[in-house]
Amino acid sequence: MAHDFCPWWLGPFLASPLRRLRLDPHALLAPFVHEGMTVFEPGPGMGFFTIELARLVGPRGRVICVDIQSRMLEGLSRRTLKAGVSDRIQARLATGRLMGVNDLRGSVDFVLAYAMVHELPDPAGFFREVAAVMKAGGVCLFAEPAGHVTEADFAASLELARAAGLSVREGPAVRSNRTAFLSPKAI
Ligand SMILES: C[S@@+](CC[C@H](N)C(=O)[O-])C[C@H]1O[C@@H](n2cnc3c(N)ncnc32)[C@H](O)[C@@H]1O
Repeated sequence: MAHDFCPWWLGPFLASPLRRLRLDPHALLAPFVHEGMTVFEPGPGMGFFTIELARLVGPRGRVICVDIQSRMLEGLSRRTLKAGVSDRIQARLATGRLMGVNDLRGSVDFVLAYAMVHELPDPAGFFREVAAVMKAGGVCLFAEPAGHVTEADFAASLELARAAGLSVREGPAVRSNRTAFLSPKAI
């Protein structure tokens, strides 16, 4: 798997309203994200999903976004400010191989890892972080673009998720994507 990340100048395309014609963030996320929740969104880019996540958690919830590129976070901040939801979003810059979210341990209801795991240098470490931050009963929606990530590579990622202590079940149908739900194993 490649570990180069999506160039920041593609951020506006990924966050463009045109993408909604193929993928409606509300329809995808509303069944899982509710008012007052704490959401972790690693690799948010310029916020295609973040604005919807922030609307769904409402003013009592929060969305913690971690990206490796400051230009992505600048675009994210501009868009979330314009959408009037910046009060519930924390945008953080990743500084190492991992997300660095130890402070979120056991506090997250929902994780959205969309089209980003294939860019990570340490996906095994990432899934351990996901397992650590989620509450019992938490859910991670993990999705990868089928054009970039083969079935075999996606299956290999799911093995890493299992090794991190996550249980895996089939995710929602999303055109041109491979998806799975990951949850902490019941003790
Ligand atoms: C293809 S974009 C997807 C953006 C967004 N999830 C979406 O679907 O619109 C991948 C994002 O992951 C970020 N990323 C890549 N490697 C990362 C890392 N090690 N830590 C945090 N973010 C990373 C990139 O900067 C980019 O914003």
